[in-house]
Formats: sequence, C-alpha cells, structure tokens
Amino acid sequence: MENPFIIKPYKSKDLFCDRENELQLMLTNCLNHSDMTLISQRRMGKTGLIMRLMDEISENHSDIKTIYFDILASRSIDDFIKMLAEATMKSFKPKTSIGKKFMNLIKSLRPQLTFDNITGEPQFQLFYHSPEEKEHTLRGLIEFLDNQGVHIVIAIDEFQQIREYPGHNMEALLRTYIQHTHNLTFIYCGSKKHMMTDIFINEKKPFYSSTSFVSLGKISADSYSSFIKRLFNEANRSIKDNAVNFILEWTRRHTYYTQMLCHTVFASDAKIIDINVIKAACQQLLTQGESTYLQYRQLITLKQWNFLIAVAKEGTVQQVTSAQFLGKYKIGSPSTATRLVEALIEKGLINDDVAITGTTYSLNDVFFSHWLEKIG
Ligand SMILES: Nc1ncnc2c1ncn2[C@@H]1O[C@H](COP(=O)(O)OP(=O)(O)OP(=O)(O)O)[C@@H](O)[C@H]1O
Ligand SMILES: [Mg+2]
Repeated sequence: MENPFIIKPYKSKDLFCDRENELQLMLTNCLNHSDMTLISQRRMGKTGLIMRLMDEISENHSDIKTIYFDILASRSIDDFIKMLAEATMKSFKPKTSIGKKFMNLIKSLRPQLTFDNITGEPQFQLFYHSPEEKEHTLRGLIEFLDNQGVHIVIAIDEFQQIREYPGHNMEALLRTYIQHTHNLTFIYCGSKKHMMTDIFINEKKPFYSSTSFVSLGKISADSYSSFIKRLFNEANRSIKDNAVNFILEWTRRHTYYTQMLCHTVFASDAKIIDINVIKAACQQLLTQGESTYLQYRQLITLKQWNFLIAVAKEGTVQQVTSAQFLGKYKIGSPSTATRLVEALIEKGLINDDVAITGTTYSLNDVFFSHWLEKIG
C-alpha cells in the first residue's frame, strides 16, 4: 500500500487534513471575486491548500476555471510571461474553444514552440524587440483571460519573487493591469512572510490594501489526531493515543514535519504503533538530517549558531532581548540579540510569529531544532 502521508505536493482530498475553515473562506472570496493574499510560516501548507481549493472548485463549481503557477524559478518579466502562458495552456487544453483562441494569441507573438518530451505540455520561447513589447504582451495575456466571459481564479505561488526582477517595476505594472480586470480573481501566495507583507500592507507600494488576507496557522490537535488515526487504521494498523500525542507535540503540529514523521513511521511497517516506534522514527529523521544541519553551520557565524542553539533549547522564545534570556545563553547586549534575530529570520532559519500577545521566535525547521537541542 502506498504511503498515505504525503510529503510531496497535494494529491487528494482524503489525504488532506482539515483546513475546512480556510477552504470555505477562500472559496467565498473566490465566489465574491475578492483577491487574496495567503501567508504563513514556511511549510505550513499554503501550496497544498491552494491545490485543495482548486480541486474543490473543479468538483463543485465547474463554471469557474483555475490557473496555478509557481514563479520561484523566475528571474525576469520574460519568465513570468512564459510561466503564465504555460499555466494557461495547461488549464485550457488546445481542443477547448478558449484553448484554441489562446493558442492563436500565442502564435501571433511569434514564439518558438516545443513540446516537453515527457509530459507533452507545450513550452515556448518568446522574443521581444523592446521592454515595451514585453509589457504589452503581459497586458495582452491578462486582458485575454479577462475577456473570455468565464470567471478564472489565478493563483501565483512564491509571488514575492517578482521583487527580484531587474529593470521593470513589476509590482506597479502588474497591479495596473490587474486592477482593470473583471473576471479574474487572484490569489497571491508566498513563503517569504516579510516580503509578502511588505508588498500588501506597505501603503507606499502598488498592491497596498488590494487583497484580503488569509493566514494559515496550525491544524488543530483534534483534527490532526483523527486524521492520523484514520490513515493508519485504513491500512489495518493501530496507533496508540499517546503515540499520536507524541507525534503532534514533537513536530509542533507544523504540517510538513508532522507529515514527514507520520510518513517515516508508516514506512517502518510496524503493525502496532506505540511510542517506541515513534521515537525510533524521530531518531532516524535527526540522523538523516545531520549532514544538512552541519552545512547550515558553514553558512552562518558562530554567534548566529550559538543563538540558534539557545532558541532551540527554549523551543520558543518570547523576548529575545530579555536579561534572563541574554544572560542564560551569554548572548551579549539586547542590540546584538536583535541583530542576530534579524539576520537569522532573513536567512529563513528563524520564524517570528506575530500575535496580539507579542512575538514568539522559534526555529523554522522543527527537526533541526530538536537536533540542536541535543548537541548544544
Ligand atoms: N492539510 C494538510 N494535510 C496533509 N498534508 C498537508 C496538508 N497541508 C500541506 N500538506 C503537506 O505538507 C507539506 C508542506 O505543505 P506545502 O508545500 O503546501 O507548504 P507551503 O506552506 O506551501 O510551504 P513553502 O513555504 O515551502 O512554500 C506538503 O508535502 C503538503 O503536501
Ligand atoms: Mg509553497
């Protein structure tokens, strides 16, 4: 039997845990043509949720069409256009009427068309005479999609990447083109929380206040617990309650890590899963991660490393500048701590969780945190 604990992209509804509230909220936003920004800590399940939403739309709202693309690998507006066009072709097959019209539009741009050997999906290269021509093409694509008389939900993943494009002010351009559409609903999703927030809540920036926010926290312990039990039971294996609780605590209900631990436990083939089976799987994961963790060590300064150990030992830290924390781990002055924390957030190693009650800091990588806790 295939391992039901997915650590790859979304597969199906029955292997996806909960997120019912977020799903309903996003669906309602889609139905009301309200653009959204989806933000969370890394690996909490943003991309999975978008896939789940698109699945739901195709199942129960088939009058709405969806386009998804991930721009993490894009380096310029050229790449963005190419990715949007390829994603559109994927959503509107060449035999459909919109697909045919879209193919004609692309052909009018004199592309070099090729077909992927493996997937058969069309791929192409566009050539431009000037930057204006690119902008014109981008606007043309967006206008085309808007003019098909169909409601289309377009999700752009790793959206903060547009800030890396040289030359063009991509934010301003996109915002201008998108602002004039009627039939398109956009979902902007990104894993760099700080940059994403800046794009959408900085009043000096083009996208300021243009979307509603959907934030993704942890799945509740009750939901995750039933989900885990169900998937083991369906495979004719039983898991003890205290073993499930151990999984949820050790992984802090951080989706990717919870999935990964369950995946590893499932792969171990034990029929009756008790806490010892779980602990063995945890150990296996820490050993597997070791070479990566040692590489992190090469990428940061000794002070940063020691700071990570301090945060790991605490698990979560409320006040990184408190005398108690600074003294206990010999970190130095409050300003040193602030600098360290900022650098480590920037490197994606530390997460800051901002709440009304204050900000809490923890390591982004739960397994790395447990590993550091032991060596420090
Ligand atoms: N609700 C869920 N139930 C089960 N598995 C999930 C759920 N949400 C996400 N996952 C799985 O957890 C892993 C991490 O999720 P995902 O890639 O969606 O997170 P992300 O927030 O987009 O991460 P990143 O910040 O790296 O982009 C994936 O393997 C995904 O399939
Ligand atoms: Mg993602």
